[in-house]
Amino acid sequence: MRPTALIPVLCCAAALVLGFLCIFAGQKKDFMEDYHIITLNTSRIGYSIINSTTSDSSNPISTWFNSLGDNIKSDINQVAGDIAQQLGLDDFYSVHMLDYCYGDYTPGPLPNATVSAKDIHKNVTACSNRTAAFHFDPTTILQQRLDESGVGITLADLNWPADIQKGLDALHIIQTTYFVLYCIAVGFIFLTLVCSALALFTTGRLSACLNVMLSSLAFLAIALASALVTAVIVKGVNLVNKYGAEIGVSAQKGNEFLALTWAASGVMLVALLWWCFETCVGHRRRERSYAGKA
Ligand SMILES: *[C@@H]1O[C@H](CO)[C@@H](O)[C@H](O)[C@H]1NC(C)=O
Ligand SMILES: *[C@@H]1O[C@H](CO)[C@@H](O)[C@H](O)[C@H]1NC(C)=O
Ligand SMILES: *[C@@H]1O[C@H](CO)[C@@H](O)[C@H](O)[C@H]1NC(C)=O
Ligand SMILES: *[C@@H]1O[C@H](CO)[C@@H](O)[C@H](O)[C@H]1NC(C)=O
Ligand SMILES: *[C@@H]1O[C@H](CO)[C@@H](O)[C@H](O)[C@H]1NC(C)=O
Repeated sequence: MRPTALIPVLCCAAALVLGFLCIFAGQKKDFMEDYHIITLNTSRIGYSIINSTTSDSSNPISTWFNSLGDNIKSDINQVAGDIAQQLGLDDFYSVHMLDYCYGDYTPGPLPNATVSAKDIHKNVTACSNRTAAFHFDPTTILQQRLDESGVGITLADLNWPADIQKGLDALHIIQTTYFVLYCIAVGFIFLTLVCSALALFTTGRLSACLNVMLSSLAFLAIALASALVTAVIVKGVNLVNKYGAEIGVSAQKGNEFLALTWAASGVMLVALLWWCFETCVGHRRRERSYAGKA
């Protein structure tokens, strides 16, 4: 019997749950929506170019804007109006591991005298279909929405920066890699959990060594996946904020997701260290007890 092996068993169980949540958070409407990887905020898209084009009658934006009702126009000019809504776009697109969700900010996208930033919530309309190794492609999604709404405006009219898509395309290979790593990590965490549970009933050094090996692999996979997802979040958000500011598009880091994935790595590290400790100290303990018998 090795009752203290309950510690790594509990750590592995926690890591397994956290690992699954990393993969499945946001996989359907209102299931852990806050645990997004990146959220794209398009609520102010095109806002800054409206005035600069209203005098130019050949520009499709000004034609569209001038065709809007007077009260909508004045709403938009007073910063209160939601131009994305008028264009048929959603206020936000939140990227998860398997899909993206979209919807509107309630009560409105911008804080004002009566509505503070804390009171603004995401109201998810729906989520996309789930796909393994999902790649977020905002250019296609936004253009599709514009086409569906029939306003006759393209992303190019809104000065959508090609650099955003180019930058995100460069991250695709990392996204595929971290998705595969999460799956591998969950597999190894599960194996470590089973072997740690079996080790509760043995005292042999072999089972301790096996657990050191399995928990090292599990920790390596989850830590590497966390590092890659962190890199994608930091790089992706900087990219969108850099090129999108001009046209009113911004991005938010998924801090809750980062907490989740690093917590999973943390508990796996505890399990790994515990097994390393057990392999060394347990060995000496057994040697002492053999010496005692002899
Ligand atoms: C556009 O111009 C109007 C009047 O000149 C002004 O009130 C409004 O704030 C401007 N809107 C933007 C988006 O710059
Ligand atoms: C603040 O924003 C909300 C929602 O967009 C709106 O209903 C309200 O009238 C605004 N308040 C002021 C003072 O502009
Ligand atoms: C969320 O959006 C739906 C329509 O998509 C609307 O019926 C509902 O009232 C909204 N919820 C809040 C809290 O604004
Ligand atoms: C999502 O899945 C449903 C049913 O599985 C299918 O009918 C629909 O076309 C899919 N949507 C997209 C955008 O692929
Ligand atoms: C959405 O983006 C706009 C402009 O970038 C910003 O002013 C606003 O505060 C953002 N809204 C939320 C809820 O993050």
